[in-house]
Amino acid sequence: MSKTAKLDLGENQIELPIIEGTEGEKAIDISKLRGTTGFITYDNGLGNTGACLSDITFISGEKGILKHRGYLIEDLCKNSSFLETSFLVVNGELPNADQLNRFKTAIKEGSKIPEGVKNIIKSFPQDAHPMGITSAAMVALSGFYPQFLDQDLSADQKTQIIPLLMGQLKTICAAVYRHGQGKDFIDSDSSLDYTADFLYMMTGEKPNEDIAKALDVLLILHADHEQNCSASTVRVVGSSKANLFASLSAGIDALWGPLHGGANQAVLEMLAAIQNDGGGYEKFIAKAKDKEDPFRLMGFGHRVYKNFDPRAKVIKSYCDEVLEKLNVNDPLLDIAKGLETTALNDEYFAARKLFPNVDFYSGIIYKALGIPTNMFTVMFALGRQPGWMAQWKEMIESPAMRITRPRQVYQGKTSETF
Ligand code: SDX
Repeated sequence: MSKTAKLDLGENQIELPIIEGTEGEKAIDISKLRGTTGFITYDNGLGNTGACLSDITFISGEKGILKHRGYLIEDLCKNSSFLETSFLVVNGELPNADQLNRFKTAIKEGSKIPEGVKNIIKSFPQDAHPMGITSAAMVALSGFYPQFLDQDLSADQKTQIIPLLMGQLKTICAAVYRHGQGKDFIDSDSSLDYTADFLYMMTGEKPNEDIAKALDVLLILHADHEQNCSASTVRVVGSSKANLFASLSAGIDALWGPLHGGANQAVLEMLAAIQNDGGGYEKFIAKAKDKEDPFRLMGFGHRVYKNFDPRAKVIKSYCDEVLEKLNVNDPLLDIAKGLETTALNDEYFAARKLFPNVDFYSGIIYKALGIPTNMFTVMFALGRQPGWMAQWKEMIESPAMRITRPRQVYQGKTSETF
């Protein structure tokens, strides 16, 4: 393959370098395009544009493959914990026993949130959406940890801030849940592992191992997903040298949208609507296909995956196992399976390569674990936090880091007179 791409602009022919990734992805480097031709490129939604070079996560949309630092997501779910996967995506290697122990200890020590942040959570109306409270609590931490406001963190400070914020967000998410339930907050129990402690701070009871394990796998499945909308948001905010609290708060806000992380809540609301409508999903599939109808089949489709989302496969297999262990018989699971089968056999979805994504089944497990629907996206944020921090860390450590500032094609009025 040629090392350059030839671009013929009529009066101007130029050659642009071609970059090839370790998994065979190819990119045309247009960094010099505007300077040498005056042209920019246009790519609505940036689906054809690489925003960075990264070593963290590889996705093959065509083959339905997801890897973190070379490890298949299926293998990480089978052979690692959420904290081991978190350490991997942030630091590039799975932790040895000593590193894992120090990481766990630092997270436990970081699991007590400032009283001022508790008061901010309590200041919200009880029925406020948990994502708004979580985002506010995250950026509020900047007022309590001023030593981490300068983005030029030392190596020690980077080693400290990652587990600190994993501990803080775990406790914030549990406190946000308790606030929504009108209950007092519960302090972290350092005798428990990360996921069990989170469930304990939610319920006040030490969870059984099956429930903690199911949630730990769900968190692994959400750990990172290369340059998705919220990770890109974290990078954009961090590219101005804003601090990590601000970048994560912005990532939480981007995740909130129903086209992104908010889809897991929207899927359950859609399944409940189908159930309330008598359980016939054909009508909803017809709505999803109707161009005049804004309704979309939530939990279906993906900007990158044009095959099954490998995470959806793992979660779907887990659904039956978790619901059986919890002795839960959820008719929404049957509706979901019927909806999936019908959609996958429908030409509209097949032609557009629309498959179930990570959000299609995850809510059914969260519901079986007793987590309320409006907390589902908060669970996504808890899982995605290590990925956001890994992307932020990779960016600030790159000598090539520049403030993100895209261009535009102006189509407005050219001159007005008073
Ligand atoms: C996540 O990017 C990531 O990695 C995200 C994520 C992560 O881990 O970070 O994987 C998490 O956000 C998963 C996606 C969750 N969102 C949903 O489930 C919401 C429902 N899905 C869609 O809104 C949509 O599929 C998106 C937003 C996910 C992707 O949108 P795209 O890539 O912009 O696709 P598109 O809108 O250009 O759609 C292409 C065609 C269109 O039809 P035509 O105009 O070609 O006729 O497919 C249709 C769309 O109308 N289409 C759907 C559909 N999704 C796309 N039609 C019905 N139902 C859907 N769900």
